Amino acid sequence: GTPVDYQAEDATIDRGAVESNHAGFTGTGFVNYDNVAGSSVEWTVDVPAAGTYDVVVRYANGTTANRPLDFSVNGSISASGVGFGGTGAWPNWTTRAVKVTLAAGANKIKAVATTTNGGPNIDKITL
Ligand code: GCU
Repeated sequence: GTPVDYQAEDATIDRGAVESNHAGFTGTGFVNYDNVAGSSVEWTVDVPAAGTYDVVVRYANGTTANRPLDFSVNGSISASGVGFGGTGAWPNWTTRAVKVTLAAGANKIKAVATTTNGGPNIDKITL
């Protein structure tokens, strides 16, 4: 069906802040993960049918260090160590798709930082 945007600033944030100081975000801002392993953003998404979906993550990473995230769905790891490399500068946003398996109806997708740098800045996910 038609892709739906789920803004990071509307998600459940554990150790992170909603900010708007780097241009180019959609919605009202983005999430700056705290620079700590375990910081996370969790979205509740709704899909019509069970299956494998591409979750398109819009992010920025103004450093040169990869900021990997583990993706869990409804509490179980679905994609681990997904890389979010440098985008050149914090206002440079790009996307990458992450394949996850979802159930029909509501699902909780949680993106957890795995290094002490925390995650990239995340604007939104689309699926
Ligand atoms: C800078 C930048 C933030 C970013 C942070 C980080 O402070 O302004 O947007 O989240 O670096 O390294 O995580």
